[in-house]
Amino acid sequence: MKIGLVREIKSSEDRVGLTPDAVGAYVKSGHTVYVEKGSGETSGFKDSAYLKKGAILIDDKALVWKKSDMIVKVKEPLKSEYKYFRKNLIIYTYMHLAANKVLVDALVKKQVSSVAYETIKDETGLPCLRPMSEVAGKLAVLEGARFLYKNNGGNGLLISGVTGVNPANVLIIGGGVVGRSALDNAYGLKADVTLLDINEKNLNALKEKYQNITTYVSNEENLIQSLKKADIVISSVLLPGAKAPKLIKKAYYKNMKKGSVIVDVAIDQGGSTEVSKPTTHDNPVFTYGGVIHYCVANMPGIVPKTSTIALNLATLKFGLEIANKGLEKAIKENDAIKHGLNTYHGYITHKEVSEAFDYHYTPFEMLS
Ligand SMILES: NC(=O)c1ccc[n+]([C@@H]2O[C@H](COP(=O)([O-])OP(=O)(O)OC[C@H]3O[C@@H](n4cnc5c(N)ncnc54)[C@H](O)[C@@H]3O)[C@@H](O)[C@H]2O)c1
Repeated sequence: MKIGLVREIKSSEDRVGLTPDAVGAYVKSGHTVYVEKGSGETSGFKDSAYLKKGAILIDDKALVWKKSDMIVKVKEPLKSEYKYFRKNLIIYTYMHLAANKVLVDALVKKQVSSVAYETIKDETGLPCLRPMSEVAGKLAVLEGARFLYKNNGGNGLLISGVTGVNPANVLIIGGGVVGRSALDNAYGLKADVTLLDINEKNLNALKEKYQNITTYVSNEENLIQSLKKADIVISSVLLPGAKAPKLIKKAYYKNMKKGSVIVDVAIDQGGSTEVSKPTTHDNPVFTYGGVIHYCVANMPGIVPKTSTIALNLATLKFGLEIANKGLEKAIKENDAIKHGLNTYHGYITHKEVSEAFDYHYTPFEMLS
């Protein structure tokens, strides 16, 4: 198969879809890999490293898209990239389609097949979302703490407190991979942590591991009470493939602390507050009701060295399987890849994505 690697163009997105080692693995399996010059620079990978692993370097982004059977990326294609879409092209990347109707329409119209990292599902859960969720969880605490600083508009608390002064209260909504990673950092920084989840078994396990935290079953009343105390709120809820539930309503803000911070990690699935809208690393926050909202949809992009390597450790094996077997055979033989298939030859093949826009759902089995 001909594989293409292009430079990410989203604001402050410095990760890259393939490391030189990953390129080497494709080449060893007999594939051709076209790399847009300079793609890996911001992640610390020089063109010469890709050349050494057998890549063909190309100056022109459009040519990489044109020559490739499968484009491997990090973030969803942006509008300026839709012009490269064509029938039978495969795009392997994070897609987050349930929050992006325009992209769904473009993929369907041009009959592009898309395999979305975030919906690939195996017996371990969501293996290609996990590494970035871990990064985002750790960053959420650091960014939340940063926006508590007075000069950033925050309430002026130091997250850890000091002798005789209480630490900040960190409310984590959703104790999955992001939530647990955030918990680990917040706990390490000695913050006062409250965690809500709908899964009681998960809450009990976390309470056992981190004894000094407060856990509640997530429901409206517990959420309202916990929001009143919070200095930093980290929302990390997920209903796989579906839009994030808007748990934090406008009406709740009047009882929240002024200068507190909501880090809405779930923004890539539409966000968990009624006012959330995506922001960028260049301009990461906005204020509503006296509360600072941090809604960066590609948080791991700001630590590209860590993130690119962690991402490739998870995505390479599925990408290689698609390249080695061809998309159809890979889907038939590996349910994890089938779960990842979001669009195929002009059809929406992921149920939650179709439901997000009231579009027709067509299972892959009906098309093969
Ligand atoms: N912004 C970013 O840069 C970035 C990076 C990585 C992940 N994410 C996003 O973060 C979100 C969480 O990812 P994850 O890997 O932790 O998912 P996960 O599936 O591991 O965890 C989600 C958790 O949310 C819980 N949950 C669901 N509904 C809930 C509710 N109403 N109240 C409380 N808890 C609820 C689930 O029980 C689960 O424990 C996803 O939307 C993911 O796409 C964003």
